[in-house]
Amino acid sequence: MGSSPFIIVAIDGGAASGKSSSSKILAERFNLLHVDTGSFYRQITSELLRRGVPHTDLVALNTALAGLDFSTQLDGRSARMLIGQKAAGDEIRDQRVNDHVSHYAAIPEVRHTLLAYQRGQVDVARQHGFRGLVMEGRDIGSVIFPQADLRFFMHADPAERAKRRAAEGRQDSIAERDRLDSSRKTSPLVVPAGAIDIDSTHLTLDQVVGKMAALIASKLD
Ligand code: CDP
Ligand code: CDP
Repeated sequence: MGSSPFIIVAIDGGAASGKSSSSKILAERFNLLHVDTGSFYRQITSELLRRGVPHTDLVALNTALAGLDFSTQLDGRSARMLIGQKAAGDEIRDQRVNDHVSHYAAIPEVRHTLLAYQRGQVDVARQHGFRGLVMEGRDIGSVIFPQADLRFFMHADPAERAKRRAAEGRQDSIAERDRLDSSRKTSPLVVPAGAIDIDSTHLTLDQVVGKMAALIASKLD
């Protein structure tokens, strides 16, 4: 009898493709740590904007990044990033952050700053007795965990995604963020080779989660 396996599930996709909703449900169902890396990029963006550091000033940006101190706090099954002991608030979903986040996220130094922190979530998950982690973002299956047990890539038509965001009452520059995220040089949004493609345009959240859950269950058996 071996001990039960620890699994890593990577979920990537464009804005409002259903990453957060599905990964939160999967985390509950399988006792996995849920890690929303988009919230990390949003939080760094919010902090740099607060400090008045533009993404175009690399010197000031590097100085600011070197001074940031990251730690993690659990919020149920989700990992919350703390910067200098401070958690993010609702402001990370504001229009201002929506408009700037993809510009900061395109900078290699910003991505490098988050690399070890994101990989370190495996230790956080193990320390707290989770059976694994489900991490969502843009480069999880391609860069952060290319060896993940399961790598999903979520699609949905842009019009459907815009409709979903609007239904949440959120204004968002989805198309522009997708364009910037897909065209940047460092860790662009790409379908990683071998990833499992899920097109949710005509599927309910339940149907999407059902497909993913069946595959996760088969890994945990
Ligand atoms: O929730 P939504 O899909 O709209 O966005 P998000 O996951 O909160 O990510 C916000 C932004 O962070 C993205 O548009 C990317 O610019 C950046 N991001 C990234 O570059 N790499 C990741 N692994 C996650 C997010
Ligand atoms: O995390 P990401 O930005 O990829 O998307 P999300 O915030 O999980 O999903 C955006 C909205 O689409 C949520 O209100 C979901 O309930 C809804 N939705 C979905 O995620 N999947 C479907 N198949 C249908 C609707």
